Amino acid sequence: MNKITLKALRKKKETGEKIVSVTAYDYTFARIFDDCGIDIILVGDSASSVCCGHDTTLPITLDEMIYHTKNVRRGVKSSFLLADLPFLSYQSSIEQAVMSSGRLLKEGGAQGVKLEGGEIMADTIYRLSQTGIPVMGHIGFTPQSEHQLGGRFAQGKDKETANKILKEAKVLEEAGAFALLLEMIPASLAREITHSVSIPTIGIGAGPDCDGQVLVSYDLLGMNPGFNPKFLRKYANLHEGISTAIKAFASDVRDRAYPGESETY
Ligand code: KIV
Repeated sequence: MNKITLKALRKKKETGEKIVSVTAYDYTFARIFDDCGIDIILVGDSASSVCCGHDTTLPITLDEMIYHTKNVRRGVKSSFLLADLPFLSYQSSIEQAVMSSGRLLKEGGAQGVKLEGGEIMADTIYRLSQTGIPVMGHIGFTPQSEHQLGGRFAQGKDKETANKILKEAKVLEEAGAFALLLEMIPASLAREITHSVSIPTIGIGAGPDCDGQVLVSYDLLGMNPGFNPKFLRKYANLHEGISTAIKAFASDVRDRAYPGESETY
């Protein structure tokens, strides 16, 4: 399988072939997803919740993101490897954003970074892309601002906020973003954005008309029974599958049924 490049992603938008993205946080999952032909593997700052057990994406540090990215890197051969800039690793200055992104590329082995925010991020995106660092913008619901937004819910539902998000998409494209992640916005707005920009749009809770879709891998694999947002489709029930296997192992050990003759040296 050929390495997925920015050119290949742009081509997919032109030809209408959907782009598929999932998150990964370690080597073993990354290798499986890469073998499945996933276009973009995202080391998401959702690691803060799904790997570290925090309530939000805010606590995860740049060093922790680099640690996850390094491990994912070893499992990726073909997919485009993108890493999230965590909260407060890029907002305080353009220099900070360049240094943090540089570390995700140099130490983590990422090929690009994703950052949250609208027009305020335009100069940062310009500088990163001029520095040779591919940037995906992330607009709509932006989890790093969830305290300011007052919770986790769809954005852009009225004309004024929809126009603001549409404008942000255009400004980020102009600044040099190679793609846009659209999170939890109405499908009609995502469709309008997708038709208004020449770069790929990747949706999560943004309807069917984006150029691609992304889901948090642990969510689509059904590892968290308590997390059921409207946009999520669970393709497996690994919570149940894993629990069944672990309980079977525990029971075999307690019953002295494991290890058996053939499993013993
Ligand atoms: O961190 C993450 O997992 C994300 C999702 C929106 C895909 O950014």
